[in-house]
Amino acid sequence: MDLNISGRTALVFGGSKGMGYAAARQLAREGVNVVIAARTEAVLQSAARALTDETGCAVRYVVADITKPTGRDAALSACPAPDILVNNADGYPPGDFRDWTDAVWHEALDMMMVGPIEMIRRVVDGMQERRFGRIINIVSRSVKAPHAELGLSNGARSGLVGFVAGLARQTVRHNVTINNVLPGAFDTDAQARHIAKLSALTGKPAVEVRREKEGHNPAGRFGRPEEIGALIAYLASDLTGYVTGQSWLMDGGEYPGTY
Ligand SMILES: NC(=O)c1ccc[n+]([C@@H]2O[C@H](COP(=O)([O-])OP(=O)(O)OC[C@H]3O[C@@H](n4cnc5c(N)ncnc54)[C@H](OP(=O)(O)O)[C@@H]3O)[C@@H](O)[C@H]2O)c1
Repeated sequence: MDLNISGRTALVFGGSKGMGYAAARQLAREGVNVVIAARTEAVLQSAARALTDETGCAVRYVVADITKPTGRDAALSACPAPDILVNNADGYPPGDFRDWTDAVWHEALDMMMVGPIEMIRRVVDGMQERRFGRIINIVSRSVKAPHAELGLSNGARSGLVGFVAGLARQTVRHNVTINNVLPGAFDTDAQARHIAKLSALTGKPAVEVRREKEGHNPAGRFGRPEEIGALIAYLASDLTGYVTGQSWLMDGGEYPGTY
């Protein structure tokens, strides 16, 4: 399948690791000019080098924190007119909502809702003028099937998905689509941190927590980042101008509903 996006430009937040890296890799393989953004320069540098070496496309990087206005400015200085934007950052660790103060909620909202919405605000008009835009938010299955211990994610990410549902219907006639991907458990550093926190909360060894989580999944395993990277590249393609405001679950069948 030819995604017909060779020569386009993509800004991929959280592109130095995990699912963001996998999305950047797939886009670079398609001939897209990719800029990856994250907070840690050394990791970004080696990720950009590995992607460039593998794909033959010169992948650039920018140190940029999506939660901060200065980070968003830096990202757009490095990539002023992206055709494709992947919004992605960290999640929040599990915990008890009684411990989450006002300040914690605001931090979580900046990470999982306000940062991505601000990036959309800054790029969407240019995309509409150029009559091509693809925005993909890496969210979480938690907006469809809440996890009791992930209340910050359940709440803040639902805010993003709710906002996007309205905007995506306004931009699509200009060939600008906005979609969300909802990962289940994927084998990344973030998943390892999540397991470590659950292990600390429950007293179970981390290997046991992992074995149980994999065992509960109908696929019997965690997702591989490249699997969701391919979905993101498809949603970023020229073929998806009629798909907008949707949330694409990829979880090995763990969500139990028929629809
Ligand atoms: N893995 C899973 O099972 C799973 C399941 C559901 C949802 N999710 C969510 O999906 C997202 C991606 O997860 P992942 O597993 O791919 O994580 P990951 O492997 O830890 O990678 C996260 C990436 O985001 C960057 N990042 C973190 N905070 C950032 C910020 N404030 N601004 C810019 N970049 C930032 C990280 O680099 P720096 O730290 O250097 O900035 C890194 O490049 C997270 O929101 C996670 O909660 C993950």
